[in-house]
Amino acid sequence: MPAIVVVGAQWGDEGKGKATDQLGSRVDYVVKFNGGNNAGHTVVIDGEKYALHLLPSGILTPNVTPVIGNGVVVDLDVLFEELEGISARGVDTSKLLISGGAHIIASYHRTLDKVTERFLGKRRIGTTGRGIGPAYADKINRVGIRAWDLFDEKILRAKIEGSLEQKNQLLVKVYNRRAALVDEVVDELLGYAERLRPMVTDTSVVLNQALDRGETVLFEAGQATMLDIDHGTYPFVTSSSATAGGACTGSGVGPTRIDRVVGIVKAYTTRVGEGPFPTELFDQWGERLRDVGGEFGTTTGRPRRCGWYDSVIARYASRVNGLTDFVLTKLDVLTGIEQIPVCVAYEVDGKRVDELPTDQTAFHHAKPIYELFPGWTEDLSQVRRFEDLPRNAQDYVVALEELSGTRISSIGVGPGREATLQRHDLLD
Ligand code: GDP
Ligand code: IMO
Ligand code: MG
Repeated sequence: MPAIVVVGAQWGDEGKGKATDQLGSRVDYVVKFNGGNNAGHTVVIDGEKYALHLLPSGILTPNVTPVIGNGVVVDLDVLFEELEGISARGVDTSKLLISGGAHIIASYHRTLDKVTERFLGKRRIGTTGRGIGPAYADKINRVGIRAWDLFDEKILRAKIEGSLEQKNQLLVKVYNRRAALVDEVVDELLGYAERLRPMVTDTSVVLNQALDRGETVLFEAGQATMLDIDHGTYPFVTSSSATAGGACTGSGVGPTRIDRVVGIVKAYTTRVGEGPFPTELFDQWGERLRDVGGEFGTTTGRPRRCGWYDSVIARYASRVNGLTDFVLTKLDVLTGIEQIPVCVAYEVDGKRVDELPTDQTAFHHAKPIYELFPGWTEDLSQVRRFEDLPRNAQDYVVALEELSGTRISSIGVGPGREATLQRHDLLD
């Protein structure tokens, strides 16, 4: 099984980091292909917690070569801080490779992210404030800075001058901020150049050659299907391609080389930031899921909005990603709920709909149609075989599988590496 893509099937924080980490010992490369330090992955190894933002989760596994692909936006300050943080805990970070084509987040992107959110007021996205949107906007506008540019001061200066000309008008005249100074930005970025240089390479060549040798490459998405710039709940999305197709454009590996696409899905649903969320709970059940599931953002610490499982979204994720498997996470969090509601379809303007409505107004009006499934009271955290789950928990998983369009190959019953039940081998 040489190439496997791991994507979030909902609105993020499904447990992609744990899933990647678990496969780590059986893969040779782990590639982050989209997003930046807006991601937050918590991985628990032998009771020790690691929080990763920009680095691929594979960095925690010895022998894995972690790769930051061309589709990622890199904040260099965060990169070196995160590398130092995990090196200090004994993790070997020396193998990290970064695509020369990856775009750089500069200080003016962070400023613009925060100021545009403030100006949007009620229409704000609720971004992480990390400069992600403005950095991708520059990429699409063809005024971005790429990792390679840091090794040629003349080019770097010319590009920053070009990029800031218009932005400074905006910052000063519209947003009432101070202008960004070309010299300051150039100096800041050049300050990282020599540390960055040994990591930067043509990662498309590296990855394709690895696949030619029969090595295993795992592509790890940040964010998730419903936050994807094209397929998510636009405009309440992130600015990158978080679906499976992004693994190809964000790494320079073609679609014919991908063997498996795994969607990570929680046994309920969460969302951070603004935007529609049909199964969201505003009562004590939402609070219960947040408390028991520890649903607070790894990146911003914001409480996550919580709701029941939505199989319309799971079916949509199966379709737009071409999923071959689901990893169902956090089943343990549902223990003790007498009857568990699952959204099986929506009602929109009095009519039942089984497919996700893609127009914004219809999705805003979608009301969940629930089916109730009997719960269980047993603690699941020590269970390691599907057959050993309480009968009702097994039935819940089988029902989700039937409703969601793709087989459930693995089930999470706790945050630790070992707290997982396998039904089908993901790398077979
Ligand atoms: P990611 O962004 O998709 O990598 O997910 P996050 O790390 O932001 O959020 C998932 C959280 O759930 C983390 O704190 C994980 O340690 C935790 N987690 C993952 N799988 C399970 C599981 O099966 N059960 C429980 N209780 N926690 C889990
Ligand atoms: P992981 O990889 C959950 C959300 C933000 C906001 C929107 C846009 O941990 O699953 P951005 O800063 O990207 O421009 O914000 O996307 N968001 C996430 N929500 N998990 C994430 O990453 C997220 N990354 C971005 O809250 O609503
Ligand atoms: Mg997360």
